[in-house]
Amino acid sequence: MKQKKKIHKPKKRKHFNKKKLEIKKHIKSKKETSEESNKIKTESFNKEEETYEIEVDKVKIKIEIKSLTSGYTYLLKLPEISIATTTLLNEVRNNLITATTIGMKEIINPTAFKKIKLTFMKEAETIIKEKIPTIEQHMMEFLVGKLMQDMLGLGEIEFLINDPNLEEIVITSSKEPIKVYHKKYGWLSTNLKIKKEEDIINYSNIIARRVGRQINVLTPLLDAHLISGDRVNSILYPISTKGNTITIRKFARDPYTIIDLINNNTISLEVAVLLWLGIEYEMNILISGGTASGKTTILNACMPFIPPNHRIISVEDTRELMLPEFLYWCPLVTRSPNPEGKGEVSMLDLLVNSLRMRPDRIILGEMRREEEARVLFEAMHTGHSVYATLHANSTAETISRLTNPPLNVPPNLLNTVNLNVVVFRDRKKGIRRILQVSEFESNKEDATANILYRWIPEGDKIIKHSESSRFFEDITRNTGMSQREIDQNLEEKKRIILWLIKNKIRDLNDFGKVMNHYYHNKEELIKSISKNDIKNILEK
Ligand SMILES: Nc1ncnc2c1ncn2[C@@H]1O[C@H](COP(=O)(O)OP(=O)(O)OP(=O)(O)O)[C@@H](O)[C@H]1O
Ligand SMILES: [Mg+2]
Repeated sequence: MKQKKKIHKPKKRKHFNKKKLEIKKHIKSKKETSEESNKIKTESFNKEEETYEIEVDKVKIKIEIKSLTSGYTYLLKLPEISIATTTLLNEVRNNLITATTIGMKEIINPTAFKKIKLTFMKEAETIIKEKIPTIEQHMMEFLVGKLMQDMLGLGEIEFLINDPNLEEIVITSSKEPIKVYHKKYGWLSTNLKIKKEEDIINYSNIIARRVGRQINVLTPLLDAHLISGDRVNSILYPISTKGNTITIRKFARDPYTIIDLINNNTISLEVAVLLWLGIEYEMNILISGGTASGKTTILNACMPFIPPNHRIISVEDTRELMLPEFLYWCPLVTRSPNPEGKGEVSMLDLLVNSLRMRPDRIILGEMRREEEARVLFEAMHTGHSVYATLHANSTAETISRLTNPPLNVPPNLLNTVNLNVVVFRDRKKGIRRILQVSEFESNKEDATANILYRWIPEGDKIIKHSESSRFFEDITRNTGMSQREIDQNLEEKKRIILWLIKNKIRDLNDFGKVMNHYYHNKEELIKSISKNDIKNILEK
C-alpha cells in the first residue's frame, strides 16, 4: 500500500516575474560555468598504449589498449579455442546440464548461487578429467572458467565486468562492438561483439531472472543489478531502435574515500574538513551534479564522517552506498512491481517508513519527485540530518530545479539545506571536481545562493569565494562553539586528514576506524598521530 500522508502542500507562487528574473540569473551563471569549463585544455586522458592482465574464475586474460586508426581501442586477448576444444566444452556442458539442476532459490539468492557455482566447477573438473586424464592444470582452469562464464555468467562480458579499470560497459546491438568507459582513457571501442541479437536478450533475461524480474516484449525495460552489485539497464528492440541494448554501470569494489578524492584533486583539504564539520554537527547537505559527475561518490565519501552512535537510514533505487563497518546503518532499497503490477516498494514508501525507524540521519540516493522532496524537507524541518543527491549542474541550477516543477519545493524551505555541494565532470579531460560549495539564502518568494568555494580552471584550484553568512552561525547555534573554537576544530581535522594522506591510509574501513577513534577518544587519536603510532590507530 502506498502512503498517502500529505506532509506539506506547496503554496501557489506569487511574484512570478521576480521568479523569472531569478531563473534568468541562474541561466547566466550556468553559461558562465560552461564557458569556464571550455577553457580547460591543459591535462588530458592517458595517451599511452598499455597492457595489463585480469583474472576471472581463474582464467587469466591480457588486455591491450592500443592506438588504432579508429582511435584508442580496448583489446581483450582471448586464447584461440580449437574446434576439438569447443566440441569437448559442448560435451561437458551437456553432461553438466543433465547432472545438476538449479532452482529459482539458487538463482535469486547470492550465497546459494555462489555454492551452486562451486558445485558446478567441481563437477566440470571431474567430467573434463574423465575425458582427458592428462590435462594440464592451467588448461583445466581455463576450460572450467570458460564454462562457468558461458553457463552461469554473461560470457565474455564477465571479463569486462571484472576489469577494475572500467566504469561502464555498453552493448548497443549485435552489429556494433561493445563500448567501455575506461578510468584512464575515457570511452573506448572494444574488439568484442555479441554475436546475435538473441544473445543480448538472453543475457538480459539471465540478469532479470536473478533479481526475480522479467524482460520481454511487453515489459521491454529492465533496471536491475548483478550479483556483484553492478547496476544494469536493459532495453529491448524495437524500443531501442538499433537493437537490444544493455548498459552496465560498475559498482566500485573499493570505494573512493575522501582521502582518494583529495589525492586526485576532486576536493580540496579545506572543503573536505568543512564537510566533515557540517556532517559531525548534523547539517543538511545536498549534492548536485550532472549525470555520472560523481554525486554518489562524494556522498559516499562523506558518510564516514557521521559519528558512530547515530542511526543512519539510507534509501536508494539500487544499492550503491558503502559505509564503513562500525556505523549504525540500515540500508534500504526500492523494488519495482512484478509483471502483474504488484509488490512495488517505492522511494516514497521507504522514505516515509524511514521516519518511523527513529533515524538521526537520512540518506536519499537521488531526489527526483515532488513527494520525495516534500518528505525530505519535512524530515529536515523536524530535526533529522538529511543528505541527498540531485541532478543539477550548478548551485543556481539546483535552486531552480528545487523550486520548479517537478520538485516544487517552496523557496522559503530552502534554507533548511545548510550546504549545497556541486560536482562537475570534464568529459574532455576525464576529471571530476567540486565546482561550488554554497549556502542557500531564502525568503518566502525566492532563494539565492551564497557561494563559499568555487573551482577555477586556471591552475585547477578550489578557491574561497564569499564569506559564509549562515553555515558557521548555524553550527554556533547548534553547538555553542565560538568561531575561534570552530577554526581550531577545522585545523585539528586538517591535521588528521594530512596525516592520513601522508601515511597512505585510504581504505574505507581503515578510514572508518580513524573516524571511530576520533569520535570515541579524540585526544588519544591526536596523541597517537603526534607519535606517528599507526598501530595504535589501526589495530585497536
Ligand atoms: N572524483 C572522482 N574521481 C574519479 N572517479 C570518479 C569520481 N567520482 C566518481 N567517479 C567514478 O565515476 C563513475 C560515476 O560516479 P557516480 O556514480 O558517483 O556518479 P553520479 O553523479 O552519482 O551518477 P548518476 O548520475 O548515474 O547518479 C563511477 O564509476 C565512479 O567510480
Ligand atoms: Mg548517483
